[in-house]
Amino acid sequence: MFKKVLIALFIFIISAVAAIFIAFEVKSAKNYSVINFDMTEEMKTADLELGKRIYTVRSGCIDCHGTDLSGKMVMDNGAMGKIYGANLTADKLKSWSDNEIARAIRYGVHKTNRSLNFMPSFDYVALSKSDIAALVKYIRSSAPVSDTRHANSFGPIAKMLSVFGKMPVMFPADVIDLNQDFASKPEEKVSFEFGQYLSNSCIGCHGDKFIGGKIPGGDPSWPEAKNIRLGANPVWTKEVFSQYLKTGISPTTKEVSRAPMPIWLLKEFNEIESESLWLYLSSLK
Ligand code: HEC
Ligand code: HEC
Repeated sequence: MFKKVLIALFIFIISAVAAIFIAFEVKSAKNYSVINFDMTEEMKTADLELGKRIYTVRSGCIDCHGTDLSGKMVMDNGAMGKIYGANLTADKLKSWSDNEIARAIRYGVHKTNRSLNFMPSFDYVALSKSDIAALVKYIRSSAPVSDTRHANSFGPIAKMLSVFGKMPVMFPADVIDLNQDFASKPEEKVSFEFGQYLSNSCIGCHGDKFIGGKIPGGDPSWPEAKNIRLGANPVWTKEVFSQYLKTGISPTTKEVSRAPMPIWLLKEFNEIESESLWLYLSSLK
């Protein structure tokens, strides 16, 4: 009797694991189509310096794609897999059109129409067309670096979490509205509106209500993101916020915020960016 139960349990586990692996392969093979758009006009006036700023500071692309744009380790462990940011230099993207690069950034869809894996496009879908054009121009300006890396591979935990919808970053094209058109962009000056625009890059970790909590699809060792509805706590004056971005020392915990809070990027924010962000976040009670 006991033996039968064990055998049944064994068969059940094997089937469940097989089902998860098959579901993962099915999702990986799915093709996506997005709304029609054309970058030609915006590329003519694209601002290279702005592209560099978005890449290296505002959107943190540099964290996964590296200083020379040839790709960097994102995670490498048995549970999650070997995940590297793609090589964005001409060595890899020569055959991609501007539209295809824009589509990858915005909608998380590869040239071959599959969903990208582990590329947080939902953080970039709120960027304006001119910002995306600036990024494409910056990517195009990079020197080619030859690509010698293996393809990304995913561990059992990453597969399980993504099949159960607990890791949106694995199939970003699945969670983005692929018919969503480009957002308009407020002027780059100190304002509530510009702060709100910039705060889109905080949503991936702090949530769309900015109340923080467990970071979806994050490494299990990461701390929870904090509530950043700064208006709820009078300690967050404009000066304190700007000081926090420079040092990472939180006025609420008196400690340096731990990774993955990207202080190393946010300390590069200039006054326009920092003040605007504060104007917006401090309006949230
Ligand atoms: C959390 C890490 C991470 C961040 C941040 C990130 N990317 Fe990616 N990106 C990836 C990974 C991983 C891939 C490869 C996905 C694949 O091929 O399945 C990728 C793929 C791409 C691709 C498609 C190229 C290809 O060969 O797959 C483009 C273009 C791209 N990223 C641009 C950007 C830009 C621009 C930013 C910032 C606005 C950015 N990425 C931010 C991880 C990241
Ligand atoms: C990759 C994930 C990630 C992103 C992106 C991110 N944060 Fe954080 N943030 C965190 C985590 C995690 C903590 C908590 C760190 C700790 O507890 O040590 C944190 C803490 C903070 C704190 C400290 C709050 C307190 O009371 O101590 C502030 C303020 C903050 N983040 C603001 C921002 C802003 C503004 C942005 C966007 C411009 C942003 N964060 C983007 C993950 C992130």
